[in-house]
Amino acid sequence: MNKAIDPALMHAAEAIGSHTGTPGSAHAGTHTESSGLDLGAYWMPFTANRQFKQAPRLMTRAAGMHYWDDQGRPILDAVAGLWCVNAGHARPRVTAAIQQQAAEMDFAPPFQMGHPKAFELATRLAQIAPEGLGKVFYANSGSEAVESALKIALAYHRVRGQGTRTRLIGRERGYHGVNFGGISVGGMVGNRKTYGLAVAGVDHLRHTHDPERNAYSVGQPLHGAELADDVERMVALHDASNIAAVIVEPVAGSTGVLVPPVGYLQRLRELCTKHGILLIFDEVITGFGRTGQPFAAQTFGVVPDMICCAKGLTNGAVPMGAVLVKDEIHDAFMTGPEHLVEFPHGYTYSGHPLACAAALGTLDTYAEEGLLTRAGEMQDYFAQAVHSLRDEPHVIDVRNMGLVGGIELAPIPGSPAMRAFNVFLDCHAQGVLIRTTGDTIALSPPLIIERSHIDQIVDTLRTALRRVA
Ligand SMILES: Cc1ncc(COP(=O)(O)O)c(C=O)c1O
Repeated sequence: MNKAIDPALMHAAEAIGSHTGTPGSAHAGTHTESSGLDLGAYWMPFTANRQFKQAPRLMTRAAGMHYWDDQGRPILDAVAGLWCVNAGHARPRVTAAIQQQAAEMDFAPPFQMGHPKAFELATRLAQIAPEGLGKVFYANSGSEAVESALKIALAYHRVRGQGTRTRLIGRERGYHGVNFGGISVGGMVGNRKTYGLAVAGVDHLRHTHDPERNAYSVGQPLHGAELADDVERMVALHDASNIAAVIVEPVAGSTGVLVPPVGYLQRLRELCTKHGILLIFDEVITGFGRTGQPFAAQTFGVVPDMICCAKGLTNGAVPMGAVLVKDEIHDAFMTGPEHLVEFPHGYTYSGHPLACAAALGTLDTYAEEGLLTRAGEMQDYFAQAVHSLRDEPHVIDVRNMGLVGGIELAPIPGSPAMRAFNVFLDCHAQGVLIRTTGDTIALSPPLIIERSHIDQIVDTLRTALRRVA
């Protein structure tokens, strides 16, 4: 992976030092001026802690397309929180569902016991899933959905007497969460270099990012379907009888919005089928309408064997993840003595009542407002708007799909991620929340977005790009 595009989240603290002054000590002087809030104890995730605590960006309220900060200033949300608040913030059905459920039954043990909403939700998810993915296994996050899917893949081959199929294949520049399985199949350097070997027996397809041939593609790039033939290289190297699964994001988000080349996912599907390898789509960010259909699998017309989802599942309101699984995979487990656990895996909070209630309220909201297909209606306007930034300073590529936009900037030599982070800070000062990964700005607004919001986001970015060195 190119060092310049290493997401470099680890370096963010150093990178932004020059923008805001030298980062201070994490434990001294960490009270906010306005509220006296003590910021010292909280070790923030994926955050430049020292920089943040020097100049905190606190949010205290949210509704619709906006957050409000601790000074009461509105901030337009161009990233759906963190790719999850697809229906916009504080939606009444979701809020009411959580409140009611908390009062009715706070928790139900998920092992050997059940509660109605977990079953109801699974049925509803199967209804919007690609055909054939009729079974649902719950988790509590995208990372856990990934771990669960990888374990289902290994256990599935084993119950069918193909226990040698243990090797997992990911892809360079993939992101599959932060747990050990996920960082192993993932191809995000910053997540891999710090933690050593992680899970062994993993290999990677090459990534599909090819700016020389595909820069400024509107929608799917034309070149690169042949990269899926890497599956054949894996089979030649390891033999199909040793390979359990291939996992990819249909659209890679966290390493800079990489849209699959035309024909690439179809080819992956063909080759996995040919070799008896399971194909897992990690749809943690693409699930629930982001690309114009409930799942990207439907947008691209490719049905995987499993789909990992999370985020938009509950509109971000309660943590939840899930794996949608082909019926025949599930059915392969349903053998042996009936009093025994078929798949020894699960979490205390699998199918948590509050999460199920939130998800049902979310699915109702999506259905009532047609949100699972709205990205398809807005995508042309959105694409035109983000591609209008192509000639602004530092821009070296623009990518889009549905309501996802990626604007890649030339890195400042020797300071990867600094330029994009400075744009992030500038946009925040202007009242727009964007997200950056490495030197790519990633946009993923709530699906309720209107054209005027798109204009505001792009105008804000244009101003920021022109004034950030
Ligand atoms: C594709 C993908 N998989 C997995 C995850 C991990 O999800 P979580 O942060 O909920 O564990 C993410 C998070 O952004 C993601 O984008």
